[in-house]
Amino acid sequence: MTPPPEIAEMLHRAMGFDAAALSESAVGRAVRKRMSQCGQRDPSSYLVYLRASPLELAQLVEELVVPETWFFRDGKPFEALQRFVMEEWLAANPERPLRLLSVPCSSGEEPYSAVMALLDAGLPPERISVDGVDISNVALAKARRAVYGRNSFRGAYPGLQERYFTATPHGWLLHEAVRKRVNFSQGNLLGDDFSLLRGAYDVIFCRNLLIYFDDQNRERALSVLERLLLPRGVLFVGHAESAPVLEKWFVSVASPHAFAYCKKSALPAQGKAQPSRARGEGRREMPRQPEKPAARLRPPVAVVSKEPPAGNALEQAQRLADQGRLAEAAVQCEAFLREQGASAQAYYLLGLVHDAGADAENAREFFGKAVYLEPNHYEALVQLALLAERQGEVRTAAQLRQRAQRAQQRRGNK
Ligand SMILES: C[S@@+](CC[C@H](N)C(=O)[O-])C[C@H]1O[C@@H](n2cnc3c(N)ncnc32)[C@H](O)[C@@H]1O
Repeated sequence: MTPPPEIAEMLHRAMGFDAAALSESAVGRAVRKRMSQCGQRDPSSYLVYLRASPLELAQLVEELVVPETWFFRDGKPFEALQRFVMEEWLAANPERPLRLLSVPCSSGEEPYSAVMALLDAGLPPERISVDGVDISNVALAKARRAVYGRNSFRGAYPGLQERYFTATPHGWLLHEAVRKRVNFSQGNLLGDDFSLLRGAYDVIFCRNLLIYFDDQNRERALSVLERLLLPRGVLFVGHAESAPVLEKWFVSVASPHAFAYCKKSALPAQGKAQPSRARGEGRREMPRQPEKPAARLRPPVAVVSKEPPAGNALEQAQRLADQGRLAEAAVQCEAFLREQGASAQAYYLLGLVHDAGADAENAREFFGKAVYLEPNHYEALVQLALLAERQGEVRTAAQLRQRAQRAQQRRGNK
């Protein structure tokens, strides 16, 4: 059964996802599941029902969201957050609470990680105010419950559970002191009402969502975030989300592997002397890690672990990359390639590592190798499309996106 095309259009309007990300097979599976759950047999009558019921549309959206997340995902952004707040923000705002938005927050690991990072840095709890927003009510229910299993701790920072969680028969329950700092609500970043009744934020985390949007919706989302970010605030995006449209309103902050941006409008006018010029045209400099951290700063949670993670070299590489330990991830990938020979996944990871290090040329080469070995490697195709887009190669980017879409359909049909 092929779902009526109007359903994909409705989903595109509701979630903003790109056609390549919202493949027909995924939509088909989700529609079939929902139709059987509501006892509908005919796709056309389901479409009528869907049009009449916002609740049913929300249920269908639930079938398509990707709630993948974990504590201290990518590591470095949380270290950069600690430095920004303790070394820059605190001096300018000696009294009021820090306002941080995490959208999408999924099941809560990201906003809770931000709270733990700030507590670890020494910010008093009453000065931390975090909003977590997501389109998925299922993910939000999990976030409010704050009981987590092994997958949420895949960053494997020793001591995190012991310091902030209590073991229960159902998983690890996050301490109330952290839970209390986050206020969760349902919201659609592309909804007309998203910024209504929200104040402005000092810090916004918007990671691993923009990548799924098409250009138009990415631009729309970023313009909303620009309005919501205070002039001296910082925006964190995911490692694969630096699109040309981002640079319309934001400037990359010189903080390696944190994928942090500040507002263009807040930069001193061209020509005026500014300290950050030394490291990059128009870039604001994130406070660097002090040689000797101030006594009140405990080591950030995200850098506690120096032990090698378990598993084979490729799994280790993936884990290290997830923690933002990119140089170590590259070493593991190379070891894997030496021992096991060519591997699409190892090349893909090396591509991510080089892309994160702003080395587009090598990133492209490694993603290309991954696709050469595995022509339907969806993620590598998407990354190649993004790189082509960033370099202004519009036609190549469109072709790669089409290839990625076909690859995902093939994957869905298996
Ligand atoms: C991959 S998770 C990212 C979570 C977290 N930011 C991270 O990086 O680990 C993507 C989340 O985006 C949410 N989402 C999808 N479309 C959205 C939209 N238009 N507005 C808000 N949230 C959305 C999904 O429900 C899902 O929980």
